[in-house]
Amino acid sequence: MIRKSLLLVLALSSGALQAQTPPPQAAAAEAPVRQVFTQAPLPYASNALEPVIDTATIELHYGKHHKAYYDTLNEEAAGNAKLASLTLPQLLKKISGYPAVVRNNAGGAWNHDFFWASMAPEGQRGEPSAALLKQIDKDFGSLDKFKEAFNTAGAKQFGSGWVWLIVQKGKLVVSSTPNQDNPLMDVAETKGTPILGNDVWEHAYYLKYNNRRPAYLKEWWKVVNWNEVNKRFEEATRK
Ligand SMILES: [Fe+2]
Repeated sequence: MIRKSLLLVLALSSGALQAQTPPPQAAAAEAPVRQVFTQAPLPYASNALEPVIDTATIELHYGKHHKAYYDTLNEEAAGNAKLASLTLPQLLKKISGYPAVVRNNAGGAWNHDFFWASMAPEGQRGEPSAALLKQIDKDFGSLDKFKEAFNTAGAKQFGSGWVWLIVQKGKLVVSSTPNQDNPLMDVAETKGTPILGNDVWEHAYYLKYNNRRPAYLKEWWKVVNWNEVNKRFEEATRK
């Protein structure tokens, strides 16, 4: 018995037993992060919005920036079962209960899925529906005045952020949010259901438009997917 104990002490002190079992953190580091939240596929080819948005910008924006928001959010979800049990819209509604890393990356994930679907290739963009135009006339005076209000809000958003057209209690409202916030978040100053959104982070336009954000905002209307905006408007006003 004494002899066995002595052998065990010797084995431990020589590291012989420890060497047989890898430390638990090494095994965890090798395990892939479970993809709880999934980036929506880009709904068109990366050159489909040329010349308004260049191919290189789309590839970097979708493949690097947007992907990184999902990757980071999934890393957070991997260690948080409560977070992992939510859908993105559910999470946005209660985002004030989560740290900045979750707020920024959940926002970035949702905002960009919404953004890609807000644009379409030539021939698939459509026009604002009669119902949407009627509401735009009522709330802004005309389609041109609405676009002007949207562009001004986008240009005035200091630093990085987003500009939105939202439905708020049956009315159309233009708003903007900083960073990756959006009007679905419980922390948003102006809340509502987004039906159109434009990304005014420099990564969205800098390669082609450099520092000329107003020029990007003006050109962007050419690629708007009105078919999708009409559908969102219908859904938001049906509620
Ligand atoms: Fe972006």
